[in-house]
Amino acid sequence: MSEIQAEFELSGRTAIVTGGGVGIGRATAAMLAEAGARVVVADRDRETGERTAAEIAEAGGLAEFRAVDVSQRLEVDALVEATQSAHGRIDVMVNNAGIISDAPFLEISEEDLDRVHAVNFKGVFFGCQAAGRVMVDQGSGSIVNLASGAIDVATPTLVPYATSKAAVAQLSRSVAVELGPFGVRVNAVAPGFIDTPMNERHASGPDGRLDPKKHGEVLAARATMSPLGLTGEPRDIALAVLYLASDAGRFMTGTVLRPNGGATMPW
Ligand SMILES: NC(=O)c1ccc[n+]([C@@H]2O[C@H](COP(=O)([O-])OP(=O)(O)OC[C@H]3O[C@@H](n4cnc5c(N)ncnc54)[C@H](O)[C@@H]3O)[C@@H](O)[C@H]2O)c1
Repeated sequence: MSEIQAEFELSGRTAIVTGGGVGIGRATAAMLAEAGARVVVADRDRETGERTAAEIAEAGGLAEFRAVDVSQRLEVDALVEATQSAHGRIDVMVNNAGIISDAPFLEISEEDLDRVHAVNFKGVFFGCQAAGRVMVDQGSGSIVNLASGAIDVATPTLVPYATSKAAVAQLSRSVAVELGPFGVRVNAVAPGFIDTPMNERHASGPDGRLDPKKHGEVLAARATMSPLGLTGEPRDIALAVLYLASDAGRFMTGTVLRPNGGATMPW
């Protein structure tokens, strides 16, 4: 193994990926496992979470599924405790689970605001706190939180989502300052548009199913937002997470990494 490969190697480490059943979380869980980590795929959706864990195992990786609703503090604490008691340590915590809702600002209900912030902000807060306690005791660990390009660009109809993600970015910096002296790194990743189930709502037909023609048009339109003319894939985000999670990112903390094809810079 070359020195460079060794820096990305995660053998002997334990990682939790919330929202690991589909999309960015699924690709991240698979990549961390490919790098050698034992991965806990944590999701509120048992079917997709178990499938991801089984796919990783079939490919020769170490993975297991644990059910969690990240908006419930006790469930997040239980996830972290069960992982630590089963495997003795938690080296990587990827707080990826998230939801989105679209509505004009003046029509957003308090329930909708609370629902989005409960998963996207409080879920990440709970994950940082529970994993942070274990990592501080260990004297090492890397936490990676999923923010969004919506923190850089004001997008109509996304107020609960964008504000929850801006809070995730600042949470990551604030926690990085407190946990850094204990050897714990905390960073955020703010992806641009990625083709995942979350974004299928832009390309579904009247029956609610994905319309292939519309899907192609959405991807083509999104590609024009990048100076590279590219649309991102879940793997592009997983690579950013791997960098921050592994020793390759040992000098990185309090950062918001932006794998977005350049879409959110003024150009
Ligand atoms: N797809 C994009 O374009 C994009 C862009 C920027 C940021 N993000 C962020 O990246 C993360 C992953 O996005 P994605 O597109 O893969 O989403 P997705 O909707 O495709 O998948 C989200 C996963 O999280 C799980 N989940 C949702 N609520 C949960 C909860 N309360 N507890 C546990 N699991 C829960 C779902 O079951 C699902 O498996 C999210 O935080 C999202 O906001 C996505």
